[in-house]
Amino acid sequence: MFSIRVLSLVSCLALGMLQAQNLVPRPQKLEKAEGQFTIRGGARIIAVGDAVTEARKLRDYLRPATGFEMPIQAEGKGAITLKLDPAAATLGPEGYRLQVDQDGIRILALKPAGLFYGIQTLRQLLPPEIYRKALVRDVPWSVPLLRIEDSPRFGWRGSHLDVGRHFMPKSFVLKHLELMAQHKLNTFHWHLTEDQGWRIEIKKYPKLTEVGAWRKETCVGPWRPDPAKWTYDGKPHGGFYTQDDIREVVAYAANLHITVVPEIEMPGHARAAIAAYPELGNFPDSKPEVATYWGIHPVVFGVQDKTLAFLKDVLDEVMALFPSTFIHVGGDECPKLEWATSPIALARMRELKIIDEKTTSEELLKEKDWHGPTHPAMKKLQSWFIGQMDSYLASKGRRLLGWDEILEGGLAPGAAVMSWRGEAGGIEAANAGHDVVMAPNTSTYLDYDQVKHDTPGFREPFKIGPYCGLEVVYAYDPIPAGLASDKAKHVLGSQGQLWTEFMPTPGQVEYMAWPRLAALSEVVWSPKEGKDFADFQKRLATEQKRWDAQDVNYRPAGGPRWPY
Ligand code: ACM
Repeated sequence: MFSIRVLSLVSCLALGMLQAQNLVPRPQKLEKAEGQFTIRGGARIIAVGDAVTEARKLRDYLRPATGFEMPIQAEGKGAITLKLDPAAATLGPEGYRLQVDQDGIRILALKPAGLFYGIQTLRQLLPPEIYRKALVRDVPWSVPLLRIEDSPRFGWRGSHLDVGRHFMPKSFVLKHLELMAQHKLNTFHWHLTEDQGWRIEIKKYPKLTEVGAWRKETCVGPWRPDPAKWTYDGKPHGGFYTQDDIREVVAYAANLHITVVPEIEMPGHARAAIAAYPELGNFPDSKPEVATYWGIHPVVFGVQDKTLAFLKDVLDEVMALFPSTFIHVGGDECPKLEWATSPIALARMRELKIIDEKTTSEELLKEKDWHGPTHPAMKKLQSWFIGQMDSYLASKGRRLLGWDEILEGGLAPGAAVMSWRGEAGGIEAANAGHDVVMAPNTSTYLDYDQVKHDTPGFREPFKIGPYCGLEVVYAYDPIPAGLASDKAKHVLGSQGQLWTEFMPTPGQVEYMAWPRLAALSEVVWSPKEGKDFADFQKRLATEQKRWDAQDVNYRPAGGPRWPY
């Protein structure tokens, strides 16, 4: 028991005072006492029932650096006790209570996920050397005496990773998942298909990876709107995950209480698939290559039955691999030039009575923005396309998720929206009663710069997008100011975006991800009250030691790191 009599308690709701014990994300409530408890050789873990699975994870986390065997027992005196208890119901399915007194460490939760997050907190309470993978001598494995009650603000705490622009090895994906878990992030949005590469094996359509996973070269240098103006590296690039790889990643993530949400892009960002199967496009006789440059490509999926059947086949294999309720279908940045001119699309629009028999391509092409015609028929056709996928996914018990362009032309009945072009899409969808994930580029795009472009001596790896520095991410609130309070329940949470056009290697992804993803973890986990950027920065000093121990190529507080 945590004894108020023998310990001088400091109630610390304003956690800034005590630096939240260097915990990231900051816990909801922490009461600290004087003194510490030390885990020593011979220490045992006490757990029964479903808590044993979490106890094994704890043992495997602590064993390498401490060298302690840490046997798991059903009863007796243990240094660490893990307990599932209905009395913890008030903490919710992911909450936990962690108590350290002179007798030992107790973690209590309603569900295994709560125990798991308590374990992650315990790791952070230990010296950062605990993250090393082999014996560390002469470190006292001490934890301060305290009591924490903690549960997340949002259920969707995500990290998105684009593996289409640059393929990322599975080993890196697994490492990223482990770092996510350390920060209590629970949703991995895996952006698996792009113009520049299709990365998931689909058994029924082998050319998706035989052809679509490879490009002959890649553009290099700063952003250019005109593909002819890029410089190209002349080196082939590619890779894909087999279905066995995918099953491994999904199971590894599940063990870390992370859901993997796959994204299969449609109808735009589909050039790699069309390079593999040109009959899926709008001009089946054309022979597009897998894209070698960035930007918004005009080559998009057609609206013929064959393409829709193909996509449903792909989704069938995807659903068999990913248990996630949400399946992301992209829906963003689909230029409509091909739809306005392809006889197949014109016939489909006439059949659907989106246009009449007399409407011509010339009329559809009359109004354009910078990436294609904006005639209302184009939006209606996209809405119809996404609607087909929405009802298909719903018929299989899943839910469609798409970027906020899926609002245009009318949102499909079951769709949830990922708001990326600011907050407006999220507000509109939530007000209409749809669930939303807030991913506004201005606050959550971690491919954007961490340093202002006009900073004297700017030495960052590359420039893209507006500034989205650490304090910007930290200050973000996923509940938009303009949202009616009774609609806030539709905001599932938020996530950080890692688009990899300019991040060819895992090290560069880590450089852009950390520490900003740690700030984001606090946005989605910690209470809004008590936010304190200066305190967060102080806690980052310990975070950096944890990352050093794990070979994470974070951006150090003082500036760039070379090489990355
Ligand atoms: C996006 O950044 N196109 C979702």
